[in-house]
Amino acid sequence: MTLCVAMLIGMATVQSAGAQTPPGKAASASGGTTTKRATPGADKKAAPAATGASDYAQRYATVCAACHGANGRSDMPATPALAGQHSFYAITQLFLFREGRRGNEAMTAVAKTMKDADMRGFADHIATLPAVPPPAPATAADAARMTKGQALAQEHKCLFCHGADLAGGQQVPRVAGQREDYLKMSLRGFKDGSRPGYTMAMSQAVSQIAVEDLDTLAYFIARFPAGK
Ligand code: HEC
Ligand code: HEC
Repeated sequence: MTLCVAMLIGMATVQSAGAQTPPGKAASASGGTTTKRATPGADKKAAPAATGASDYAQRYATVCAACHGANGRSDMPATPALAGQHSFYAITQLFLFREGRRGNEAMTAVAKTMKDADMRGFADHIATLPAVPPPAPATAADAARMTKGQALAQEHKCLFCHGADLAGGQQVPRVAGQREDYLKMSLRGFKDGSRPGYTMAMSQAVSQIAVEDLDTLAYFIARFPAGK
């Protein structure tokens, strides 16, 4: 198990670094030339099991988009937006679902079928989806609640770990503009222990925060930065 986790982290680090390399840079690192293979018609027929990024883009569209949205912005209740999420964070969560350490029936079922290479492929694809701002809310944000949320985020170091823009990085997730229902559920889950997390970071961060304040934080983060 320990070995497995170590391997995962090694793998995720490499992937995460790769995901942050601008496409131009990656191209020049691999020689700078476009080496497109000639693909005669016959080749297509005998298409080998594709393992490239486009394969996972296709598999994402087939398997994941129904719940998470084609562009990674979910319309489904309690289903997180994945757009703009970091590869390292995504692969870690897929690992937790697969190992049954993060409980959700739908996601556990999906993750159970994944080999390590699949987790890496999906996490990599997720990292290519540009962050999509949440749809404009029907009503203006409650200014007092936003101010309270901002103060709580400052006081409890949410901004310290997740960044002043709440965009996260590496193993720390982007939370800015995430669905409010999902944020609420996640924060409550870290507090009541139903979502243990990969490390203790979040359970410690929320342990001293009252549930009403967690809900205010969710309200603030879901509308961040637009409602500021
Ligand atoms: C049936 C709906 C459904 C399908 C299909 C599905 N997901 Fe999910 N996914 C969810 C839900 C719901 C959650 C939140 C689970 C929770 O509350 O713990 C989630 C969570 C996640 C997370 C964690 C996000 C975070 O912010 O922590 C990742 C990563 C993820 N899914 C990736 C995928 C990938 C990749 C696929 C396709 C291979 C996929 N999902 C297919 C419903 C789905
Ligand atoms: C010490 C660093 C740290 C602090 C402080 C911190 N976080 Fe986190 N947060 C993390 C990490 C790391 C994760 C990934 C959780 C895991 O281990 O699986 C996370 C996960 C989350 C998630 C789940 C996102 C998702 O997509 O499922 C939310 C929401 C969140 N944090 C909000 C907050 C809020 C609100 C605060 C302030 C009360 C906060 N965080 C403070 C590091 C931190």
